[in-house]
Amino acid sequence: MHDKSPQRGLFLYCADKIPPMSVPAENLFDSAYCCLLITDPLAKASAAADLYKRWMQTGLSLDSSSMPVRTDQPGRPDRPELVHPRKVPKRSFNSPQGRVRFAHAVAHIEFNAINLALDAVYRFRNMPDDYYTDWLRVASEESSHFLMLNSYLEENGSYYGEFSAHNGLWEMALKTDTDVLVRMALVPRVLEARGLDVTPGMIVKLKAVAANELAAILEVIHQEEIGHVLIGTRWFNYCCEQRGLPPRQTFMELLKKHMKGSVHGPFDELSRTRAGFTREEMLDLANLSNNRNILDNNENTIA
Ligand SMILES: [Fe+2]
Repeated sequence: MHDKSPQRGLFLYCADKIPPMSVPAENLFDSAYCCLLITDPLAKASAAADLYKRWMQTGLSLDSSSMPVRTDQPGRPDRPELVHPRKVPKRSFNSPQGRVRFAHAVAHIEFNAINLALDAVYRFRNMPDDYYTDWLRVASEESSHFLMLNSYLEENGSYYGEFSAHNGLWEMALKTDTDVLVRMALVPRVLEARGLDVTPGMIVKLKAVAANELAAILEVIHQEEIGHVLIGTRWFNYCCEQRGLPPRQTFMELLKKHMKGSVHGPFDELSRTRAGFTREEMLDLANLSNNRNILDNNENTIA
């Protein structure tokens, strides 16, 4: 009979705020799942960073006798309230309050990004060790991004959870939870890659209003996110190679199937190239985006 006692210990840990160092599991997948279920953001960030350290220093078992379970919602605090994307409060860079709302929105993305990286570790089995090293490093770096923004919020009289947010990132995790190839294509190479396009412009705007502290945080995030998307590219290409699929065509087919071909430019070519997008892929994206614009314009004309 299957011994459930270690699992029960795991859930006891996950259910509340026992210090992260007490994660009992010696198994990578159990440990990642445990971190994924932690509800307190600071405890989750700390546990994710600790998990990466443990993997690098002592290693963890890769026994995957227990299959991954669907995670409809990872551990998260009661707030922020999750709302439709159109109902997320607007933010502006021109006022301190607007910048706090902006920082809150980015903190929410980073909190989700911790969960997405942990889920990439937990869910997809039988990948090479380097895959787990890469995604645990991402989880650890996303944790530090969240902590920087959380400190900024607190220094400016706010906290993570003060404003509403949307659940788009985790919804994409659920849509892609059965296939690592699809996950690598659509989460790092679509959703996170969009951040590469827009962040440089945000940094310019923040510097223009002398919001240098927040601009500096975004500069760190931007550089590290390029590495995260590059990791997505690495493992997307690996999966394509394993299955004998052409990466360029496969990526476009997935965009058409799952994103209805809707991609938004303009694209930051330098950042995306550093993140592993080929010249041909950049041309494909530009064509897809232009077609979208033509469609949008036609729709506007008809309206
Ligand atoms: Fe991040």
